[in-house]
Amino acid sequence: MNINAPRGTQDILPGTSEKWQYVEKQLADLCRRYHYKEIRTPIFEHTELFQRGVGDSTDIVQKEMYTFEDRGGRSVTLRPEGTASVVRSYVQNKVYGLPNQPTKYYYMGPMFRYERPQQGRMRQFVQFGIEALGSDDPAIDAEVLSLALNSYKELGLQSVKLVLNSLGDQESREAHRQALIKHFDPHREELCSDCQIRLDQNPLRVLDCKKDRDHPAMEAAPSILEYLNDYSKDYFERVKQYLDVMGIDYEIDPNLVRGLDYYNHTAFEIMSEAEGFGAITTLSGGGRYTGLVKEVGGPETSGIGFAMSIERLLMALEAEGVVLPVDEGLECFIVALGEQAERAVIKLTDELRRAGIQVDKDYLGKKMKAQFKAADRLGSKYVLVLGEQELENGVINVKDMTTGDQKEVALDSVIDYMKEELTGGE
Ligand code: HAM
Repeated sequence: MNINAPRGTQDILPGTSEKWQYVEKQLADLCRRYHYKEIRTPIFEHTELFQRGVGDSTDIVQKEMYTFEDRGGRSVTLRPEGTASVVRSYVQNKVYGLPNQPTKYYYMGPMFRYERPQQGRMRQFVQFGIEALGSDDPAIDAEVLSLALNSYKELGLQSVKLVLNSLGDQESREAHRQALIKHFDPHREELCSDCQIRLDQNPLRVLDCKKDRDHPAMEAAPSILEYLNDYSKDYFERVKQYLDVMGIDYEIDPNLVRGLDYYNHTAFEIMSEAEGFGAITTLSGGGRYTGLVKEVGGPETSGIGFAMSIERLLMALEAEGVVLPVDEGLECFIVALGEQAERAVIKLTDELRRAGIQVDKDYLGKKMKAQFKAADRLGSKYVLVLGEQELENGVINVKDMTTGDQKEVALDSVIDYMKEELTGGE
């Protein structure tokens, strides 16, 4: 019987995993410079966390969660996103009470959503995200936006666009909510069954509906920007000013809603404009959340963050033809000829590796020629050959595969010799 990986999941094999490692390292370094520290939270949580955190009326909670009962009869859910878990941890560990606020975290790890798989939409995907908790200074919104954009730019992407909106504070949202209900109510019967429910639960969601996207009432829907009170308007203005100061371009889209319920004020998405990127153009999204920490049992604390999937980032790099500087080659391959030499090679291989050099050898009992072929296929920069004669003379043959030069090197100094060769004497 053949058993394949579940739909919407993938194996990341060597050849690709080097790209993942490279990107993950670059993102971690970016976070170091912005002074965001890594947090690791569990991959599953109590279901209630996401129901309350992400929001009961969202597609994620209603249709996409991997929820199951554990053997103790508790309902648990594979995390569909990272923000709710980070906030849960922040509250549980009373991090809000520590000095040095705001708290700035980043995370990287698998998330799970039962969605219809297509290019850029997986059931298991890896999110990189950041959260800054404990400050409602619009300067930190600008910082998050800057980090989000730079995570693409520093990797070499050019066709990325920042789309920005403000969802306002509670008061502004309530005014907008009433306006939306008034606007859509006469069309209630024409809307899809989901939107009829959304109209009562969270009318903002109607603007995000894929089925009703072309309904004439959509275009004329009241814009949140017209309902922002003075505080929200001023907040949004300051975020934009700080972006201008940093020379960051953006586009305002008053219909940008986001698929999660916890946002106020700043909401944004980063889109790819690269040709051939695919039908889904969103690379990442995020925004400010003012009620979430309280919802999860903590004090009134505001936060802002964003998340991207590494899968979509790699798709964008491919679409723009960016080649990452990953080295899939091998530093040394050692060929042993004969029983005695094999023992000496096993010892030398071990010593070279401990000295920091990347080494491999044959494990299939191949003849000399086949071993050379293997070294070539592996892209080895050097091939070291040890036969019985060399062993007797206390030397080893070192071949530089780039130049073709060969040299006999004393066995007791080959480690230093290889170090020198590989670092170019640095
Ligand atoms: P989200 O918009 O649901 O926001 O997801 C953020 C990003 O995760 C998306 O833009 C996309 O790159 C990636 N993503 C989501 N679903 C999938 C999927 N099925 N397959 C591949 N990639 C996917 C959040 O998750 C929020 N927690 C972001 C945030 C952080 N807001 C504040 N802080």
